[in-house]
Amino acid sequence: MTKRILSCMQPTSHLHLGNYLGALKNWVHLQDEGAECFYGVVDLHAITQPYEAGDLLDATREIAAAYIAGGVDPEKSALFVQSAIPGHSQLMWLLATMTQMGKLERMTQFKDKAGKHKERAGLGLFSYPVLMAADILLYKTTHVPVGEDQKQHLELAREIAGTFNHRYDVEHFVVPEPYITGAGTRVMSLRDGSQKMSKSADSDMSRINLTDDADMIAKKIRKAKTDPEPLPGDLKGLEARPEALNLVTIYAALAETSGEKVLEEFGGKSFSEFKPALSDLAVAKLEPITRRMNELMSDKAEIDNILVKGAERAQAVAEPVVEDTMKIMGFWRG
Ligand code: TYM
Repeated sequence: MTKRILSCMQPTSHLHLGNYLGALKNWVHLQDEGAECFYGVVDLHAITQPYEAGDLLDATREIAAAYIAGGVDPEKSALFVQSAIPGHSQLMWLLATMTQMGKLERMTQFKDKAGKHKERAGLGLFSYPVLMAADILLYKTTHVPVGEDQKQHLELAREIAGTFNHRYDVEHFVVPEPYITGAGTRVMSLRDGSQKMSKSADSDMSRINLTDDADMIAKKIRKAKTDPEPLPGDLKGLEARPEALNLVTIYAALAETSGEKVLEEFGGKSFSEFKPALSDLAVAKLEPITRRMNELMSDKAEIDNILVKGAERAQAVAEPVVEDTMKIMGFWRG
């Protein structure tokens, strides 16, 4: 059976190395293996936290440009904007009626984002994972390539699919499998090896953005937090050294190899030798992506063309699924 892939990113800010290594790279692999792929820019998710209305459109186009620059081929994969497909919101409501609040309260991302004053958090932020479940189930997705931080949301999507099928005694929704693979599924901050690399961290030095130029990438790696020890010969030697482990992991993910292999090469060497090598590798891999992204961003009409075509393909799959779901639930359909 052909794999049906769906994955998405939020147009909240520039994409960073974690988004690329944890998700986008795998999207491209799956596409090139011949899977049927749907890649969305989830603008409805992006408005669950404070945002500037005037920035949303550019951010949406920039994420689409990053997908293409990172290797998503719009001829092969459907590349679309979430809000252009009404089925996402429609299905979300239907699924919300069978999702327990207790489960949503346990979502760690909600807890992180809501902070201390949970009662002031918006309903949109609280129900965010239900919209994400709708994104996935709407396309009868078999595999969802994401970073490790999305595991809990995916588990919930699986549960919701199971609840629906059980309640209505149907085999309607596909229970999706997470596809979390490769060395870069959890890229950490360059300033603190216990925090994940994130778009929202205060310090820009904590992340490498796909919009950073070669000098900036080199500077961020040079300034990345490390420890005074040389690199060990195996991964066990990195157990209590999160920052060192992170840099080795980033190297492995960029070079498409394993941490062990990186340490075979760099074991015994100091960071003053390892960091320039990492920096060269990162620039070699990321610079072409940044260049292509900038080219694409200078032709917004072309990006919009691609998004219109992608939306047509997404809509053709999504609409009948909403219809079928409503029929199963007993709605009047005319
Ligand atoms: P978002 O926009 O935060 O992140 C996009 C993707 O990047 C991955 N990621 C990371 N991977 C490794 N290391 C990191 N430091 C790192 N930071 C982010 C994320 O796991 C994700 O794969 N809720 C999702 C968006 C979403 C979605 C969906 C994803 C909405 N609907 C349906 C898949 C399917 C999110 O906030 O991703």
